[in-house]
Amino acid sequence: MKVVSVINYKGGVGKTTLVSNLAAYAAAQGKRVLMIDLDPQMSLTLSFVTLEVWKDRYAENKTLRNFFNAIKTGMTPPDLSQLVIPISGEPSFDTIKLDLISSHLELIDIDLTLASLITAPMAELLAIKFMQYYNQLRFALARLKDKYDLVMLDCPPNFYAVVKNAITASDYCLVPAKMDYLSSLGVGQLQDNLDKYIQEYLSNLNIYNQNKFAGAPDYQPIATKILGVVPMMVEIQKKQPVAANAVFINQLKDQDNLYIFKWVRNNTTLFGSVPSGGVPVVLSCPKLTSYMTWRTVIKPELEELGQEFLELAEI
Ligand SMILES: Nc1ncnc2c1ncn2[C@@H]1O[C@H](COP(=O)(O)OP(=O)(O)OP(=O)(O)O)[C@@H](O)[C@H]1O
Ligand SMILES: [Mg+2]
Repeated sequence: MKVVSVINYKGGVGKTTLVSNLAAYAAAQGKRVLMIDLDPQMSLTLSFVTLEVWKDRYAENKTLRNFFNAIKTGMTPPDLSQLVIPISGEPSFDTIKLDLISSHLELIDIDLTLASLITAPMAELLAIKFMQYYNQLRFALARLKDKYDLVMLDCPPNFYAVVKNAITASDYCLVPAKMDYLSSLGVGQLQDNLDKYIQEYLSNLNIYNQNKFAGAPDYQPIATKILGVVPMMVEIQKKQPVAANAVFINQLKDQDNLYIFKWVRNNTTLFGSVPSGGVPVVLSCPKLTSYMTWRTVIKPELEELGQEFLELAEI
């Protein structure tokens, strides 16, 4: 099982769109896929489940809030398999294994509470709390490793406790970004923050292991890597990105430690309307008026990106 966090703390760059389309593509290739919505905005959840159904069936006992609430109150969190919502109900989903764990608006509070719990007067105590709280999602996902080939985490646009849990649990980070000045700057900042967090984790692990008492839980190091950047909402003319986007794609390509995926072209008609139908663009055309564009351009490009992702992540 590979765990991939889709992350960029710049808002509106296509994280949720990328998770839903890559997860659906992987499932359509026969992979067993779990999507986890970590964003209190619930965009991923509402891309597959209507708000009415969510309120009716899941809001109370079947969201990630139940998991993090238990952690917040020092209780044993429910097994993630109890929170899984199988994605079905559409012909596109009949033959594929695609599951979702829903988010909840109250995850905003949980983030702040968790952060306040990870404080302590002494380094030894802080190291224990740091390991305990930031490894919760990782331990819970490890129990699902025989059930899924791919877990995709849709991260909110920040770098708080829930996102740090996601990074700790992940093999890779995938970074969707718009190809403009500020967004390309954001990629560099994200790399720095990721490196800083990994260093902070490893130094706390060191302190923890030096003061470990018999019977205390074992924690593993982390080496989460940025798998690559996906240029999102790229303007294409004559089959090539327009100059305004190309300059930033090339700038990122010049960085020798960064892989740049094939782009996702800008198409508001298709990507803007999708969530209402509950089926990602890669699986079905949301607007018949755009059927030919979908059939001959958008779907093949998303499938090509999906294949590139599965190969690079060795899924
Ligand atoms: N290729 C595209 N072309 C046009 N519009 C797109 C494309 N991809 C995504 N969008 C639209 O851009 C908006 C933002 O996309 P999305 O919600 O996936 O971003 P996000 O990074 O998850 O945002 P947030 O930071 O709020 O979680 C949505 O309205 C979506 O429909
Ligand atoms: Mg989102």
